[in-house]
Amino acid sequence: MSEKEELTRFGVSFPGPLLEQFDHYIAEQGYTNRSEAFRDLARRALLEPSKLQSDQLVAGTIVLVYDHHASELPLVLMELQHQCHHDIISNMHVHLNHSQCLEVIAVRGKLAGLRKLHQQIQVQKGVTYAELSVTFAEEHSEDGTAHHHHP
Ligand code: NI
Repeated sequence: MSEKEELTRFGVSFPGPLLEQFDHYIAEQGYTNRSEAFRDLARRALLEPSKLQSDQLVAGTIVLVYDHHASELPLVLMELQHQCHHDIISNMHVHLNHSQCLEVIAVRGKLAGLRKLHQQIQVQKGVTYAELSVTFAEEHSEDGTAHHHHP
């Protein structure tokens, strides 16, 4: 990356309490200004898909936090998960407080499909957090196909 990269300024709107928490967080991480922290977070987000192939068989979790009072949201989330029932192994729902729910969805399938499910969840209004973690990838055999461990 060149030293002379031109920087573009843009405005970001934050709710006060979130910004306060964010400032506290970046201070703990050693950042002295928000811009550098934002740039690093953006870079990390862009690197996240890493070196895995989209057709690779993987397993992991989708963790989300959402407000179950948001209109239709529980139904939408349920519908999305039914559409992907082949990729979903298990699901844990925790009622965090009066309105917030935490859900942990254990998933296993092709990375592309899991990414699509994660993205469809992430963009819903009322979902305040959604993360796909890939914690396991099937080994590939020499011909490029995945090993299956069926009996
Ligand atoms: Ni709940």
